Amino acid sequence: MITTPVIRAFKWSDLNSLVELLSDIWSIETPDHPVNLSSLKQYLKDGISSGNRKCVLVSNKDRNVGYLFMNHEKPISRLILEGGIHSAYRGQGLGKLLISHGLEEARSMGAQTINIPAPKQTAYLTSLLSSAGLKHVRTHWHMIRPNTSITVPKMPKTLQLQYFSKGQEEAFATLQNNCFKGEWGFSPNTKTQISTSLQYPGNYDNGILLLTEKNRFIGYNWTLLISNAMSLEGVISMTGILPEYRGRGLGKLVVTSGIDQLQNNGVHATRLTVDADNTPARELYLKLGFQKLRQTLWYGNSI
Ligand SMILES: CC(C)(COP(=O)(O)OP(=O)(O)OC[C@H]1O[C@@H](n2cnc3c(N)ncnc32)[C@H](O)[C@@H]1OP(=O)(O)O)[C@@H](O)C(=O)NCCC(=O)NCCS
Repeated sequence: MITTPVIRAFKWSDLNSLVELLSDIWSIETPDHPVNLSSLKQYLKDGISSGNRKCVLVSNKDRNVGYLFMNHEKPISRLILEGGIHSAYRGQGLGKLLISHGLEEARSMGAQTINIPAPKQTAYLTSLLSSAGLKHVRTHWHMIRPNTSITVPKMPKTLQLQYFSKGQEEAFATLQNNCFKGEWGFSPNTKTQISTSLQYPGNYDNGILLLTEKNRFIGYNWTLLISNAMSLEGVISMTGILPEYRGRGLGKLVVTSGIDQLQNNGVHATRLTVDADNTPARELYLKLGFQKLRQTLWYGNSI
């Protein structure tokens, strides 16, 4: 039973207990996405040092029983809240307390939109979000493709496939921003953010495949290799084709090339996440044999 819940800022000495808390909260809902200490540390370090991410904890008698990450995407004036309460401490108003804290934070930083992701099967969370006045605004599909053979289409004569290399961060950020401009929830990336993302676990040499025309970047596929105790998995992290080059089979070309490369690296399956309302991406992935595994519902509101 909670007696004196306190919301306080995360300290580095909380890191191990935060990993345990995240494992308790998410191991059932998202077993395919296990919590990893080094990724979490990196995620918090980057966010806190850039001033774009805050983390608070709910403590009760020195025990951490809940957490909230607040990610501020300044270019699109959005605050993303991600949090949870330990399974043994639910139903005591702590979730509501965290949501109110997040909403207050959003107001104080002048964010115009708030968004919160929730795994679809977490009825307790989705009903809490609805009762806080947040609306279901988007659905993301988490998909998996077993290791069946993949056919890479023939490369058009005028195009080349090359790998991203160090020093190309600026040009790559521009490509990514131009490919994703206007897509729901996309916040433009800076060169520094690209460099930071490349430090995250899962990146490997030659993991980003770039499609070029006369040395101009026109599309890409960002792949990751995620190893855990049991297996090695491939991830398609991002795919983009410049708008003027779409509808010519190039999306298929870069994604099949990415899957082929992951399979050659020994993965047992390939995963990705796609916005269910993003018809071109959804259709592309379905046609390439990805199957829906689970869903995340995004809730949101204007502030
Ligand atoms: C998703 C994206 C990469 C597709 O690139 P593209 O080069 O236009 O795709 P392709 O021409 O290779 O099409 C591949 C398949 O998807 C399907 N598809 C593509 N656009 C479609 C659309 N608007 N409606 C229905 N199906 C579509 C096609 O039917 C095609 O299958 P087919 O060859 O059997 O006909 C591109 O639209 C894009 O960059 N979007 C913005 C960024 C993004 O959303 N990325 C994905 C999330 S990570």
